[in-house]
Amino acid sequence: MSDRGFRKSFSFRLFRLFAGIMLVLAPIFTLGVISYQKDRITADLIREGKIISMLLRNNLRTWVFAENVDRIRDTLNDVIGSRNIDSVEVYNSKGEIMVRQHTQRHPDMEAAPQPLDIGSLRFLADDEGSFQVLRKEGTIDILSPVTMESSANADEALYFDIKSDQKKISRIGYLKTRISKDVLSSEVRRIIIRVTIGFALAMLAGLVVLYVMVRKVTTPLTDLAEQVRRFGLGEPVEKVSALTDDEVGRLADAFNSMAENLHMREAETRALQERLKQSEKLEAVGRLARGIAHDFNNILSTIQGSVYLLEKKFSDHTMIVNYTSQIQNSLVRARGLIQSIIIFSKAKTMSRRPVELNSVIRRLEPALRTIAGEEVLLDLSLAGNDLVILGDAVQIEQLIVNLSGNARDAMPEGGRLSVRTKELVIPERSAGEAEGPEPGSMPGYGPGRYALVEVADTGIGIDERIKDKIFEPFFTTRENGKGTGLGLSIVYGIVEQHQGHISLESEKGAGTTFTISFPLFERTAKNRILVSEVGTHG
Ligand SMILES: Nc1ncnc2c1ncn2[C@@H]1O[C@H](COP(=O)(O)OP(=O)(O)OP(=O)(O)O)[C@@H](O)[C@H]1O
Ligand SMILES: [Mg+2]
Repeated sequence: MSDRGFRKSFSFRLFRLFAGIMLVLAPIFTLGVISYQKDRITADLIREGKIISMLLRNNLRTWVFAENVDRIRDTLNDVIGSRNIDSVEVYNSKGEIMVRQHTQRHPDMEAAPQPLDIGSLRFLADDEGSFQVLRKEGTIDILSPVTMESSANADEALYFDIKSDQKKISRIGYLKTRISKDVLSSEVRRIIIRVTIGFALAMLAGLVVLYVMVRKVTTPLTDLAEQVRRFGLGEPVEKVSALTDDEVGRLADAFNSMAENLHMREAETRALQERLKQSEKLEAVGRLARGIAHDFNNILSTIQGSVYLLEKKFSDHTMIVNYTSQIQNSLVRARGLIQSIIIFSKAKTMSRRPVELNSVIRRLEPALRTIAGEEVLLDLSLAGNDLVILGDAVQIEQLIVNLSGNARDAMPEGGRLSVRTKELVIPERSAGEAEGPEPGSMPGYGPGRYALVEVADTGIGIDERIKDKIFEPFFTTRENGKGTGLGLSIVYGIVEQHQGHISLESEKGAGTTFTISFPLFERTAKNRILVSEVGTHG
């Protein structure tokens, strides 16, 4: 596929959409994770700061009370090495700095610390759990009071409603633990790296899955496109495999049945063209033959007249009478031939009357027995119902005689000549039914009712190589003079004139069956008038 073709392809667009979605989702997801992690780490840091503050408060209480700066510093030194502690400051009860310890991380903290603004401090209570958290740019300050418990004054208890064993809590100083947020930015970096790698992997896996899915969808489509392209160029197409039951599968099905239908129509058109060519050829030869036959008939009449006169004049001369009777015989054969040519050339106009096929054949039975002779068994098998067609009974007789003659000639050693009739009904394709060949349909037949005539023999069969020549006028395989080669072309002409259809099946050595179909004459109201006018002929 060319670069441009690929970029226009469905697969590429799907990939692009997927990649786009991933690229939009990745930063949103990353930001979400970062914000969540930031909150979580901040909460952890605050909790850690509170725990350290609580421990320090307990340990510092005595030294703050005693204002022992050295011991305070010692106590602070124990925690100042902790991972996230930036600095710890201890103030006295007035908010003045007593001690400040800090890590090496912030040398700028060398500046003198400011006194604590006690007034702005809001603790919920002066007990163990009270803290105030101040979030700043890179740090979190956790402020808490250092308190001391003392028993309530017994005198005060007299005046105020205080129980004698109640404790009094007083603030003796303040503690400020500063936590560094450095850990946060390193954590954010880690998250970004992890999410990026995660997304890259997910994208890779997604692309693989997408590729497989897209292939599954696009392979039949590509197939289909290829077949449609070939179809457009008139090349033979293959069936598109429709494995799925989705839109693509249905499309493939539709294409398959469309191609099949078109193939069928093409075959029908070809057959029709073939028939047209054949009739054009017949028409040309027919015109020629008609001219010859006409002149020939006149010549034969003259010869016949002369022979008649000769016979009369020399009736005593046995020799001459012998010769003239031979000439007469030849003249009869010649007249028969001319008759054939005239029929073939359609010189004889065909009459159109309702003809019942079974009765035509029954009437012809004695003649057929004569044609079959001693060696060949005649087998008539006629349809139970009347088969009325519109046409010429004499021509139909001619057709059956010609086919039977050929059949007999194909069985020099004897055999069986069968003449059968039956009715064929090709149903109308009901609306909404899927397109495709009708079950039981035959190529070349539209829906309707037909009369079939079959003439079959068990003879030598017809060679595949001459099958398409046998209907041509003057085509014969018989020895010189034995056949005119007009028999089947006359049959063809008769079938044509009756708007019928002829086909044959033959197997070398096993026999041949010619099947002829004629449209049945429907007894519609209009046709019934015609029948009553002309009467059933036959
Ligand atoms: N039933 C058949 N079995 C075998 N071959 C046949 C059969 N029918 C026709 N043919 C072949 O077709 C050729 C043409 O037949 P067609 O009837 O047109 O002429 P013909 O029989 O040779 O001559 P004519 O009919 O004038 O005696 C025959 O020569 C024969 O080879
Ligand atoms: Mg013949």
